[in-house]
Amino acid sequence: MGGLFGPAAAAGAAVRAAASGPRQLVRPSSGGPSWTQERTLVAVKPDGVQRRLIGAVIQRFERRGFKLVGMKMLQVSDPPCEILAEHYQDLQRKPFYPALISYMSSGPVVAMVWEGYNVVRASRAMIGHTDSTEAAPGTIRGDFSIHISRNIIHASDSVEGAQREIQLWFQSNELVNWADVGHHSSSYQA
Ligand code: PPS
Repeated sequence: MGGLFGPAAAAGAAVRAAASGPRQLVRPSSGGPSWTQERTLVAVKPDGVQRRLIGAVIQRFERRGFKLVGMKMLQVSDPPCEILAEHYQDLQRKPFYPALISYMSSGPVVAMVWEGYNVVRASRAMIGHTDSTEAAPGTIRGDFSIHISRNIIHASDSVEGAQREIQLWFQSNELVNWADVGHHSSSYQA
């Protein structure tokens, strides 16, 4: 039976537990294996938006089995670009920093929060090497990009980094803690 005390409620409780921190052990009510749930920040950069790659990115994460819990499009304004300055605070002394900020503020960005087992590590593998020249075919950068300065997508590089970046880009009420309740097409019967 579903409703307040059924599997959906239990799943909801698990999701709420997962939402309370960057990494939470989730014990499914089904009796299946417990696993570590994580969240990560993924951002389609201005070149990815211009090239109409938002859908391709979302499709890859959904097909892999990850859950979208937050998404918004935003145009980071001209300098001081505070959100970008904070996001890339460790890179301020790099020679490419001014060009990176200029590129990231050149058009809209689509920021997303994805949730799932090992999503931080998995998403880094899915997007591929930072330098597109080195990115393997089959990865997002390996399939859609040829240069490090226009590498389509960002994904957090650690669980701690993900927590910091999610808090930077999203208010907590912009994230939706939704549970799987059987609307997936694989649960339909003819
Ligand atoms: S570094 O130098 O090791 O700190 O750089 P790395 O960790 O590989 O990359 C950090 C982010 O800087 C971006 N980057 C660049 N942007 C523009 N031009 C150049 N040359 C360049 N080199 C690195 C890189 O894409 C990373 O951004 P995110 O948003 O994390 O992908």
